Amino acid sequence: MDIRPAAMRRFSGPPAAEILADEDFAETPHVRFVAELADRLGIDLSATVTVMSHLPLWSTGQEHADLRRDTAAFLNRDRTLKTRRAEAAIRARFDRHVIATGPEIDLMPFLQEATADFLEPFTGLRRRASGIDPVLSLFSSNMGVAARRRLDAAIRAQLAEAEARFPDDGPRSLAIRVGQWWMGYDGLLGTFGQSLHRHLSRLDGGRLDRNPMPAIPTDTGVPMIGRIATIDKVVAGCPVSAGQQVECGLDGFNNGTEADRLRFFGAGRHLCLGRPMALDFCRIMTDLVNGCGFGLKVTAYRKANSDVFDMPVVFTACKVMPRQTGRRVSDHTSLTQKGTPPYGCAQGGSERP
Ligand code: HEM
Repeated sequence: MDIRPAAMRRFSGPPAAEILADEDFAETPHVRFVAELADRLGIDLSATVTVMSHLPLWSTGQEHADLRRDTAAFLNRDRTLKTRRAEAAIRARFDRHVIATGPEIDLMPFLQEATADFLEPFTGLRRRASGIDPVLSLFSSNMGVAARRRLDAAIRAQLAEAEARFPDDGPRSLAIRVGQWWMGYDGLLGTFGQSLHRHLSRLDGGRLDRNPMPAIPTDTGVPMIGRIATIDKVVAGCPVSAGQQVECGLDGFNNGTEADRLRFFGAGRHLCLGRPMALDFCRIMTDLVNGCGFGLKVTAYRKANSDVFDMPVVFTACKVMPRQTGRRVSDHTSLTQKGTPPYGCAQGGSERP
C-alpha cells in the first residue's frame, strides 16, 4: 500500500532545496490518499485524517496561509518561558539517565524522554499512546492496514487526552495541538540522535568537553520530502515531466557546513515553523553532552526501518572516564553525588586529549 510511484526521481542537497522553494512543484496528496484508503477499505481513519488536515504541510493557497498563521501563533506562544521550563526538565533527566548511571548507558530512554520533555510545554501533551511502535508515523506512505488502524487509535487517544486537558480548545485547536506533537517528536529525536551518533563515533570515546559537539545538528532526521511537478521542468540538468513525483533529499546536507545544515528545515512556502524550537532543543542537548566531562563510546546503534524518518531505535554507549581509559570496573558512583565516578569503558575506548 504505497503512495509512491515506482519510478521516482531523487534530488539531493541544493537541487532538492531548489525544488522545495519552487512554486511549480506541488504538495503530495497525502491526506486525500489516507481518506480514500479508509473509504475503499471501509475502515475508520477519521482521527488520522482530522489531524493531517490541520497540518500546513499538505495544504495549499488560503487554507495553507490560515493554518500556517494559526500554527505559528500556537508554537510561539510564551516560547521563551516554555523553552526554559523544558530545559530544566531535560537537565534533571540528563543527571538521572546519563550522569548518575553507567558504565553502560542505554541512551534511547534518555533521548525519547528528553524529546517528550521538550515538546510537553509547547503542546501540553506528553507522548504518543503507550504500546505504539515508534516507527508508526502520521507521515508514512507505505503502512499496512493493521498499522494504520493502530496509528488511528493512538491519534484518537491523543485527541481525547488533549480535549480532557484543554476543555476550552475548539476542534481546530485540538487538532493543531496533536498535529504539532507529531511534527516535532520524530524530527527532533532523529535529528539529535543521528547527530549525536556521528559525533560519538568520530570521537570513539574521546572526552566530550574537549571535543565539543556542534550545536547546529550535523545530520537530519527528516531525510526526504516529496513533491509533484505541475509542469515540465529541468532541475540540475535533469528533465522532470508534469505529474512526476520527486524526492527532495535534505540528507544531502548531512555533515555539511553550518549554512548547509540550516537547510535541513526546508525552503519556500513550507519552511519549517519549528526551526527555532528545534535549534533550541539541539543547543540544550549539546550543552549537556559537551559539559559532561567524560567520553561516550558507542556500543550499539541501529536505525529505525522507517520510510519517513532517520532515527535511532537502538543506541547504547559506555562511559570513558578521563585517565581511566579502558579500565573495566564493577561498581559505579553517581557523579552528581560524589564527584568523578571510578568507572571506565568496558569496551576499552580511547581517550582523546
Ligand atoms: C530538527 C527537527 C526538525 C526538522 C529537521 C524539520 C524539518 C522540516 C522540513 C524539512 C519541513 C518542510 C516540509 C515541506 O517542505 O514539505 C518542515 C515543515 C514544518 N515543520 Fe519542521 N522540522 C523539525 C522540527 C519541527 C518541530 C519541533 C516542529 C513543531 C513542533 C515543526 C513544525 C513544522 C511545521 C508546522 C511545518 C510545516 C510548515 C508549512 O507547511 O507551512 N518542525 N520541517
